[in-house]
Amino acid sequence: MNTEVKAKYLKDYKKPAYAIESVDLLFELFEEETFVTNTMQIKKTDASVNDLTLDAVNLELLELSLNDLKLQESRYIIEEEKLTVLNVPDAFEIKIKNKIYPQDNTELEGLYKSGDIFCTQNEPEGFRSITPFLDRPDIMSLFTTTILADKKKYPVLLSNGNKIKCHEDFKERHGVTWHDPHPKPSYLFALVAGNLGSISDEFTTIQGNKVALNIYCDLGNEQKCHHAMHSLKASMKWDEEKYGRAYDLDIYNIVAVDSFNMGAMENKGLNIFNSAYVLADTDTATDANFMGIESVIAHEYFHNWTGNRITCRDWFQLTLKEGLTVFRDQCFSADMNSAQVQRIEDVKALRERQFVEDASPTRHPIQPESYISMNNFYTATVYEKGAEVIRMVYTLLGEKNYRQAMDLYFETFDGQAVTTDDFLWAMHECGDFDLELFKRWYKQSGTPRLHVKESFENGTYSILLTQKIPDDVDGKKQKPCYYPLKMGLLDRDGSEILAKTLIISKESETFVFENLKEKPVLSINRDFSVPIIVEYGEAQFAFLMKYDTNSFTQYEATQNFALRTISEIIESSAINDDFVDAYGHLLDLDVDLSYKALLLELPSVSAVMQLQKEIDFDAIYDAQDKLLLHIAQKYKEKLLDIYKQNHLPASASLEAKYIAKRAIKNRALKILSILKNDEVAELAQKQYEESLTMTDRIVALDVLENLHVSYAEVALQDFYNRYKDETLVMNKYFAILASSSRYDVLERVEKLQRDKVYDEKVPNLVRSLVGSFARNHKHFHAKDGSGYKFLADKIIEIDKINPQIASGLCGAFKVCDKMNKHNQDLIKKELSRVISTQGLSKNSFEIIDKILK
Ligand code: PHE
Ligand code: ZN
Repeated sequence: MNTEVKAKYLKDYKKPAYAIESVDLLFELFEEETFVTNTMQIKKTDASVNDLTLDAVNLELLELSLNDLKLQESRYIIEEEKLTVLNVPDAFEIKIKNKIYPQDNTELEGLYKSGDIFCTQNEPEGFRSITPFLDRPDIMSLFTTTILADKKKYPVLLSNGNKIKCHEDFKERHGVTWHDPHPKPSYLFALVAGNLGSISDEFTTIQGNKVALNIYCDLGNEQKCHHAMHSLKASMKWDEEKYGRAYDLDIYNIVAVDSFNMGAMENKGLNIFNSAYVLADTDTATDANFMGIESVIAHEYFHNWTGNRITCRDWFQLTLKEGLTVFRDQCFSADMNSAQVQRIEDVKALRERQFVEDASPTRHPIQPESYISMNNFYTATVYEKGAEVIRMVYTLLGEKNYRQAMDLYFETFDGQAVTTDDFLWAMHECGDFDLELFKRWYKQSGTPRLHVKESFENGTYSILLTQKIPDDVDGKKQKPCYYPLKMGLLDRDGSEILAKTLIISKESETFVFENLKEKPVLSINRDFSVPIIVEYGEAQFAFLMKYDTNSFTQYEATQNFALRTISEIIESSAINDDFVDAYGHLLDLDVDLSYKALLLELPSVSAVMQLQKEIDFDAIYDAQDKLLLHIAQKYKEKLLDIYKQNHLPASASLEAKYIAKRAIKNRALKILSILKNDEVAELAQKQYEESLTMTDRIVALDVLENLHVSYAEVALQDFYNRYKDETLVMNKYFAILASSSRYDVLERVEKLQRDKVYDEKVPNLVRSLVGSFARNHKHFHAKDGSGYKFLADKIIEIDKINPQIASGLCGAFKVCDKMNKHNQDLIKKELSRVISTQGLSKNSFEIIDKILK
């Protein structure tokens, strides 16, 4: 057992005793080693302290001097994660030279190599493995950075801010100095060196400043950067229009790298991106990929104000920047595309990932109280539930007051490292809501439920709303929540009687609506105005599917009715004809086709699983298949019609209209594929062969893989040959195979690990092969335990390479306590084996420990 692990607590926060006013960094990059020389101007801010303790991981110290005097060994102490300099004066310069090995850094934190590119990732605590520092976000300093490297291998040398000097005076080597005029925490520091291609553009801010925009990538990929560039310019414009926020440097650089632990990073003036969120063309990227790029580019750009100009006091405040920035990027995407589709997609993602997390032993409030590894808290809860909490603030304030409150927030805290309380203070100054009650959203975990009981008498309709608040993870009682609940009432012809936002503040409350002719139909939690689970008494799902005037609750009614129908099939195997009829009605709806494609999607396994006390994946799959088959048989002609109407004429256009046509057509194809007949197999095969877009090709491939072995083999071979050199496309290939329903999946996954395209050091590949398998419930939860054993072995292996990726994989086991006894025992056996592995990282330890408790 790992006994070294220690948790950090929010309540232990202390102000720093020093300020680092400026830092001058020199990087001398070589193939076998890198020398870092770090010169800092430091001042005491607390006169009572004597020693300076810097964060420093595995420090290999070469020189240390204070005010230009070399320090004797008796003046400092080096520990595993610290460098302490004893008895320092009130103000001084300290100079540290040390050596690091980026080429051997497989954790991808600090300075590392992605292929031949040197790059950095410092959030949250990577900087301390580059050079000793007060590596905490409330230390904000001015950075000047000089990079020296081989001229041929690394012609492009980048860091934050503006380029102030080039050093060309030596033969094979060259250098560049960058200066960032904005003080920033170390987690926003970045450096890149490589032989890169790029595209450039320009943006003129609302204040008239010209900003040079550059996107860098591997040579040869330049043509795939245009969508990202377009998205960047749209984001810059949007933030000016919607928040009055303009960019504040003369240059904005983005670099795409293949090896990256997350999506992207908002380093000041030098964003570093997982190449999956930059590179795209219609031959290699799906419509969803294009949307993903737009939203991540926007997200990182929006951080410039919500994250960089105003940053977090400590890492417990992470949702201050992440929840807010996700909310901003969601609104941006809603404005750029279809708002109703965007909202549904966001809620779907929240429920698939965050609701599951919030019901598991790893659940935590959006502001956690403690952590062992901060890396484990870049979660759906902090990000997506955090965004829902900001959305509630927005709903409570209304657009105008929200904008005023945001202005006040920027005015008051610009240049500072602040807390979620500071943010809420600004919101509360401009709005009228119960601040103390609302703060519970930051402190409590678990998804709240709301039980609805309706009654109607003498023209008076009332709803009794009762909150059910889950206990926290340690079994402690939590309190009722405060939130805006959007609702509407419809009359029996389906026209709207009223639309309203109720303020929910009590555990239980009755709301009364008078002077009604007949009992109305309730449409509740419109737009998903609060992230809860609604428990209906008698719900009019079929009616709402037909008539609801709110597109979100219309979708929701369909999902709820389908979930109820699937649950009934699991219990009694009977199919509710009312649902099947209502579904038939949806097929004829004349609405936006992207929205229709979502309406026609039946609930995922994860959605059904969340209803079960004890999860039974086999039963879920059987019931789903049964319902889908019934629908496909009954509506075969209509579905074929939808397919044909939207399939031709073929187009690779990215206009909304064509994206929508692809979405609805592919939805029809997927539903029809349950028929498992030659007609559908041939449609899919033809679609594969004639496809003009990756969207069509990948859907066809996926359908074939699960429908027709011999067609699939041909298509898979073709796909592999065509794309084996495109690693982003190979991720899709691995994901399809690892998610397959075919019986021999595990065997194939094991074989694919030895494919020459696969590389266990590249996070995207691990996520698409091993990660997809871990989400393939049918095979991962196999009764013989083979899926669990496979994943446990992988976790042990990958933990040695990259703890962050390993602990991400551990998450697949978090459904453990909801499984049957047999599977629980198998999981526990494997996790016990993993947790007792010598040298297991604190990242993996923290997650497994919670699951096993
Ligand atoms: N701060 C990044 C974002 O959300 C995410 C990130 C965290 C990236 C940690 C890398 C490491 O935009
Ligand atoms: Zn972010």
